[in-house]
Amino acid sequence: MRLSVIGCGYLGAVHAAAMASIGHEVVGIDVDARKIDALAKGEAPFFEPGLQEILTEGIESGRLAFTTDTSAAKGAQVHFIGVGTPQQAGGYAADLTYVNAAVDGLLPYLSDGDIVAGKSTVPVGTAAGLAPRVEETGATLVWNPEFLREGWAVQDTIDPDRLVAGVPDGPAGERAADILREVYHPSVTKNTPFIVTDRATAELVKVAANAFLATKISFINAMAEIAEATGADVTQLADAIGHDARIGRRFLGAGIGFGGGCLPKDIRAFSARAEELGKGESVAFLREIDAINMRRRDRAVELVVNALGGSVFKKNVTVLGAAFKPHSDDIRDSPALDVAVRLHGLGAWVTITDPAAIENARRIHPQLNYVDDRDEALRGADAVIVVTEWDEYRRHLDPGHASELTTGKVIIDGRNCLDAAAWRSAGWEYYGMGRP
Ligand code: UGA
Repeated sequence: MRLSVIGCGYLGAVHAAAMASIGHEVVGIDVDARKIDALAKGEAPFFEPGLQEILTEGIESGRLAFTTDTSAAKGAQVHFIGVGTPQQAGGYAADLTYVNAAVDGLLPYLSDGDIVAGKSTVPVGTAAGLAPRVEETGATLVWNPEFLREGWAVQDTIDPDRLVAGVPDGPAGERAADILREVYHPSVTKNTPFIVTDRATAELVKVAANAFLATKISFINAMAEIAEATGADVTQLADAIGHDARIGRRFLGAGIGFGGGCLPKDIRAFSARAEELGKGESVAFLREIDAINMRRRDRAVELVVNALGGSVFKKNVTVLGAAFKPHSDDIRDSPALDVAVRLHGLGAWVTITDPAAIENARRIHPQLNYVDDRDEALRGADAVIVVTEWDEYRRHLDPGHASELTTGKVIIDGRNCLDAAAWRSAGWEYYGMGRP
């Protein structure tokens, strides 16, 4: 099938390449010429395992192309909208400028019977607002949210755990759902749940899923706060409640909290939209979820300060990690980088390292001292803090080896990812998040 993908950022670039890899003929379109040049040469513009391979394969097969020219969308049967919906400057709501521009730019190239499938995360009601413009051309607008996780984006796109299609009532909607089933034929063949619903529900499913995940993380981080006041261990608590299948252990990792380009902005946009709908109180708890999340960064900084005797001024602090999570070079709203910047603000000499995110971090925070090599970064540290749980720190950093490099033996485990007993028995002062 011929497909176009408007917006070649994280979501769009992965979607375009993944759709080509399952046999479709795909054109990816974006206004950013630099991004398009890179993609057209088969270069992944960000770190995402497996993306490079499917980009190269798609381009070499002739099924995948990239352009800045929206007219290339003409002739495609399905047009995916995968542009960003960032947090508005000076407010909590989502900025829909790019979604509106993408749809308006596409209108002249739509033909009768085409499907426009929104994948961007939008406030509920957005599709209803866009539909009249799209439908004037004879095309049908559907909402088909994306649930990919960074670091697993290729796998999540090719083999998602569910598909959601929000379609309008009537025959046009039924036909659109059938066409999406064809698009996602490998998943449909293996009986991946394919939920056909109305457009408002589809939009809501996406933000509800992210709100739930954020709530789960802040719940366990709230328990970490209580654990800190009582001497309890939040990691054991999480294991114990996680054995209840109704609760589940995943996303109960207490630490410095969630960040990234999605969870923080999505819960804020959800609150803003609920207020517009006169239902602010229904999701008022999301403000608390956000507040708990931000407090964990304060706590991590406090642990470093206390461990160094009340001040980090002119102390060497090595920060292990900058990305908002491992297997990613994304530093958007990264708690890891925020902790590093705060320590620097308190007068510490901060050295920071990360296997993938240094270049991105340096661009935004040039004031920090970036070192590529982990061991080099550890050299001379008075204290070390792990803020992104890369395997390089979690599995492959031996406390004995680290002792040979650092000056002090203070380790703060901002992700509760280290073996506390092993570090202590190697002579380190170990501090976790919500654990004794
Ligand atoms: C999230 C959702 O998980 C995806 O399903 C969704 O499609 C995506 O947002 C999106 O809306 O595009 P992502 O931002 O890639 O995906 O990251 P997550 O894996 O959800 O992690 C988010 C943050 O939560 C990270 O900073 C991570 O370190 C933190 N986290 C995660 C915890 O602090 N504790 C946990 O137990 C799990």
